[in-house]
Amino acid sequence: MVSSAEAAAYIRWAASGDPLLRRCISRRAFLLAQAIRFCSPRWFARISHERLALAHALDRELSLLKPANVIELGAGFSLRGLQWVDRHPGRYIEMDFPAVQRKKSAIFPRSEHHILLVGDAVTDIGKAKGCLRKGRTGIIIEGVLTYLQPEKVAALLSALRASFPKGTVLLTHAAKKAPFLRRLLWGTPADIDVQKMLGEAGWRVRESSGVLIAS
Ligand SMILES: C[S@@+](CC[C@H](N)C(=O)[O-])C[C@H]1O[C@@H](n2cnc3c(N)ncnc32)[C@H](O)[C@@H]1O
Repeated sequence: MVSSAEAAAYIRWAASGDPLLRRCISRRAFLLAQAIRFCSPRWFARISHERLALAHALDRELSLLKPANVIELGAGFSLRGLQWVDRHPGRYIEMDFPAVQRKKSAIFPRSEHHILLVGDAVTDIGKAKGCLRKGRTGIIIEGVLTYLQPEKVAALLSALRASFPKGTVLLTHAAKKAPFLRRLLWGTPADIDVQKMLGEAGWRVRESSGVLIAS
């Protein structure tokens, strides 16, 4: 669970234009990333690009899916929703904690197609069902699972299956990377087998360029 102090730290730093730094939610991760950038700018730049490539792979899979609805869990200050509604018909629904959503709704332009829901993705995912249009639903999970205990991850994947049996989950995975790197790249936690958990929750899974696609 992300504490309000961590959420506040994320809000403070989310505005930083750096693709890696703005993705560090905790003070420790932020300071660590700063130290790496200072000690090894080239390595830092490489990892930043890897991070962008992973986000791009997710965007590509989402476009191929042609969903009428997108639900992004733990959307934070991602600009994907804003960009998506400009270029695609349908709805983009984001779910995150109150502090993040409050700040965002003060910044983001209002749109009936871009909906900011307040809630805990593990327990409140049902809220998103009321916002859907007819058609396919894509569910994005990027950089959220590393903040959840394994039993919460399992509960979330099962709740998604029950609420969106015809949906497709897109999850940044960054498999084969060291645990520290998986966290920086917003992959899945290294101490759990997410592919197995998705299977146990009833999803069929494939991987493409570091992104897990479950349907
Ligand atoms: C590392 S940020 C990732 C932000 C976003 N996915 C992006 O691409 O910019 C993690 C976000 O997940 C949110 N989060 C963590 N646990 C959550 C939960 N159980 N329910 C909803 N949001 C959650 C945090 O508040 C934070 O905004």
